[in-house]
Amino acid sequence: MYKLLRNILFCFDAENVHYLSMNFLKFSCRYNFIRKFLQKYFRPSGKNLERNLFGLTFSNPVGLAAGFDKNGKYLDELRILGFGFVEIGTVTPLPQEGNPKPRLFRLPKDEAIVNRMGFNNDGVVTISERLYRFKQLQSNYNGSKNENKLIIGGNIGKNKKTPNEDAWKDYEICFNLLHGVVDYFVVNVSSPNTPGLRDLQRKDSLKKILIHLQELNRAKENQKPLMVKISPDLSTEELDDIIDLAMEIKLDGIVATNTTISRKNLVSKEKKISKAGEGGLSGKPLMVESTRITNYIFRKTRGAIPVIGSGGILNGKDAAEKISAGASLVQVWTGFIYEGPTIVKKICKSIQ
Ligand SMILES: Cc1cc2nc3c(=O)[nH]c(=O)nc-3n(C[C@H](O)[C@H](O)[C@H](O)COP(=O)(O)O)c2cc1C
Repeated sequence: MYKLLRNILFCFDAENVHYLSMNFLKFSCRYNFIRKFLQKYFRPSGKNLERNLFGLTFSNPVGLAAGFDKNGKYLDELRILGFGFVEIGTVTPLPQEGNPKPRLFRLPKDEAIVNRMGFNNDGVVTISERLYRFKQLQSNYNGSKNENKLIIGGNIGKNKKTPNEDAWKDYEICFNLLHGVVDYFVVNVSSPNTPGLRDLQRKDSLKKILIHLQELNRAKENQKPLMVKISPDLSTEELDDIIDLAMEIKLDGIVATNTTISRKNLVSKEKKISKAGEGGLSGKPLMVESTRITNYIFRKTRGAIPVIGSGGILNGKDAAEKISAGASLVQVWTGFIYEGPTIVKKICKSIQ
């Protein structure tokens, strides 16, 4: 059924379809009987789905990766679709338009996506206000057996115009303004679509940002878990440096991985790949490398630093593979587009 709908949706511009579908879902959920039906239909069922990690209780280990609901506009609807957690963002201090459109492309033969969105978002002030309203909504249904609590991650970044030496200030602004409204933080230094951002993964630059955020965190009443999201294109030396740093400063976790700039092993026609152009590749072709990195971190830290596995999960088997490689939680993005909203339920069924 979804495959048929997908074939129709794939005839139209990917970004327009994204917002159209999410707005349609939001509109439908305004009717209580539809909400209840969707919730009942999509709710993952099964034993042992709950995860306790970073002092947080996740109703299930399947999350929506950053960049899908950048502005935190569809949180209640995504909760209804069964997600245990949603990572909003990447959020920057000032609102940004992102790169010129078109900037989102599908490679159906590879079950992949190429994007060069460039951190388009409403800016941290608007987003934090929106999340505050969602938090109030959640507290209203807290305690009701039928409603699962959604964990919200805040994925933070820097504005395009901010030079790398001042990046720490942008992370600070986002961290402070989102602190009261998210459950955990992810420092994004791995998007390939903001020029120079990935240079912040170098040990000294990263250390400065993370230590500063940890100090801010310690001064707060409620401390929030702090993680870093890494690129799958790091060399082994660079990855070792980040793992050493994470151990040294006792970072709470690592999200592995973001999208790749590699175009290796694609089966799509060369013309289609070059038409998509530059940007980060996600989906099936990313699975092997990002799982290898997850496992490398798990083995090197002997499980001391939890990993959120992101990259190439299209079904329950992929998710199970990520978890056996060492991921404590998993996230999907491209899989949600190719497999549809039942992906959460299906993954939960096969990993319980
Ligand atoms: C259109 C698009 C936008 C994305 N935007 C962000 C973002 O703003 N911040 C971020 O950390 N990751 C972003 N990502 C990366 C995803 O969060 C995820 O890590 C990556 O796509 C790999 O997972 P997947 O193979 O399941 O898609 C984006 C991915 C896509 C496809």
